[in-house]
Amino acid sequence: MEEVEEIEVRVAAPAKINVILRVLDQRPDGYHNLWSVMQTVALEDELRLRVRRDTGGVLLRCDDATLPTDHRNLVYRAAALTAERAGLNVGLEIELMKRIPYGAGLGGGSSDAAATILGLNRLLGLGWTVVHMAELGQQLGSDVPFFFFAPSALVTGRGEAVKPLRLAGERWVVLVTPGFPIETRWAYQRLSATRSGAPSLSGALRALEAREAVSWEDLLPLAGNDFEAAVFPEHGVLRTIKARLLSQGAEAALLSGSGSTVFGVFRDEMAARQAQATMGRFERCRAYAVQACTEALSCQSAPTTASLRVG
Ligand code: C5P
Repeated sequence: MEEVEEIEVRVAAPAKINVILRVLDQRPDGYHNLWSVMQTVALEDELRLRVRRDTGGVLLRCDDATLPTDHRNLVYRAAALTAERAGLNVGLEIELMKRIPYGAGLGGGSSDAAATILGLNRLLGLGWTVVHMAELGQQLGSDVPFFFFAPSALVTGRGEAVKPLRLAGERWVVLVTPGFPIETRWAYQRLSATRSGAPSLSGALRALEAREAVSWEDLLPLAGNDFEAAVFPEHGVLRTIKARLLSQGAEAALLSGSGSTVFGVFRDEMAARQAQATMGRFERCRAYAVQACTEALSCQSAPTTASLRVG
């Protein structure tokens, strides 16, 4: 046996919020056209990726035993798809440390998938562009492409058309998950059942499309989520959480994605931490106070030593 230096790539996979989410018309492929301003926040899963010398295939380990570690996990599928597209018959070992709640509208699985592609691009020296990685990611889920253009972007189409935004200023975000998940497919069905026809986009939102840079002050008066009208009547506690966040000083409070997380945006760290403490004691809720991210996703390469039989 000989000590060999191996390379491990680590990627932090942040959660996302939708500061604005309009669900427009249904498309011939069954998906809906979206219009969303998405933003990453510093509640992060962590991925560690290594090449496996012993055998081929993907070996995924996760510190949350309730999550599957086979093809049902987006990380596994992202790794298998990346190896296939790269034309490499390589063994991969991935550790996933889960912090982002799932079924929560925070894009945790999508972020993990994007982080996997980004990490393997580095580990395997593929030299892929973000546009190429986002195209691959789109095959795994509608929210995946956004993460390649984080921290802030305008997302349209099914989720594949992503235009990065420069968002000036800093904010704290309090995420409140109510202790139950919401299935995205169910939320879309409720939305279709509770409204007649697709809404049109306001002039204020159309005006945002032309801009490369915006401020939180520009965005927050336009904050809103079309899923609230479909989801709140079924889950009244979410309306209560929103009202409580607003009464604790949030500049805006709304559902993220199709839920179940409701988030509040705060200018002030102290107010955010106070709201987190209060909301964490409410019913079965879990609350997190985190900053809105100001950086893109990035990889770190770290050498690790492994005992390998070589030669
Ligand atoms: O793409 P993803 O697997 O995340 O989508 C889950 C479900 O959400 C889809 O099967 C579809 O019912 C719905 N969806 C949609 N329009 C989108 C994204 C998702 O109708 N733009």
